[in-house]
Amino acid sequence: QNKEQAALLKLYADSAKLYQHVLLNTEAGESALKYLHQRGLDDDTIKTFGIGFAPPKQLLLDFFQEHQIDYQLLRQSGLFIENQAGELRDRFVNRVLFPIKDASGRVIAFSGRILKKSPDEPKYLNSPETKLFNKRSVLFNFDLARGAIRQHKSVVLFEGFMDVIAAYRAGIQNGVASMGTSLTNEQIYMLERVTDQLYICYDSDMPGQKATDRALKLLNGNSRLQLGVVQMPDGMDPDEYLRSAGAEKFTQVFEDGKQTPTAFEMQYLRRDLNLQNTQDQLTYIAAVLTQLSRLTSNVEQDLYLNQLVQEFGLDKGDLRQQLRSVTGQQT
Ligand code: GTP
Ligand code: MN
Ligand code: MN
Ligand code: MN
Ligand code: MN
Repeated sequence: QNKEQAALLKLYADSAKLYQHVLLNTEAGESALKYLHQRGLDDDTIKTFGIGFAPPKQLLLDFFQEHQIDYQLLRQSGLFIENQAGELRDRFVNRVLFPIKDASGRVIAFSGRILKKSPDEPKYLNSPETKLFNKRSVLFNFDLARGAIRQHKSVVLFEGFMDVIAAYRAGIQNGVASMGTSLTNEQIYMLERVTDQLYICYDSDMPGQKATDRALKLLNGNSRLQLGVVQMPDGMDPDEYLRSAGAEKFTQVFEDGKQTPTAFEMQYLRRDLNLQNTQDQLTYIAAVLTQLSRLTSNVEQDLYLNQLVQEFGLDKGDLRQQLRSVTGQQT
């Protein structure tokens, strides 16, 4: 059993090496290398993250068969697709490959990005679940980030690989990503063991905001982590913002733009409302009060009540009273 695990790990490590060799040193990798350079990754970054390229013509199968690797092992690795007749072919072709590593930095899976958007193919293709790869309990970059998470006493949770890598280049090295799926309890547990402060920095487009809202709810119910939200301007994702605004402005967002979960929720609650409209105003205020009723800090409640007073010209005593009645309904 352990022997099989070791053999799988060796297979993934060799694959990662081969994919990176193709990217950095061969003609077949030229277009992919150009693509990555255009996205702002230099060769050092490519090496740090072990990024590679699966060329259009399949690569691994021939290589491993030449090296007489056991066929059953190849089948189990997830690196190949099997047809009806039991024949294998490479799963990853013509994709930039990001190795997915376990907490000790051993490659256990890959995710591949197509170079050009296509309607027929997913943008990212992941390894299937295997004996070593359980998607729910893996965070991209957890192995590299762990030291920085401890040092900064906080972790930043991103949506995508390129966001983690962009942040890393800009000096924010305590970032991880939950690989496109929504955050899981297993991932929360991993993070809780190394820090007690989590910042969610998902894309600031509407899907990203929805995911932020969902993650906050999950975290509130299932963890003791202190939470914050960082949002890039103008609906961008972190990688897009870094490229358009530069590293200085990017890191500034992390210094100055940290929101409390409540501040984020208040902004999120407004998304479909027209606050010139009285009905919408009432809807908004009621929703905010429900949100505030869950806070344990009176000071924090007060802060947001003051904002409502300011924005809508309301009487604070009335708001307090209403808040008490909402809180009463819940307990
Ligand atoms: P880039 O376009 O390369 O910058 O990717 P992105 O990270 O900005 O992609 P997006 O915001 O659309 O999605 C966030 C994350 O979700 C990605 O990093 C992937 O992990 C995952 N994801 C996106 N598209 C797909 C897909 O088609 N299939 C799968 N399995 N995952 C995806
Ligand atoms: Mn997104
Ligand atoms: Mn994105
Ligand atoms: Mn992106
Ligand atoms: Mn009054």
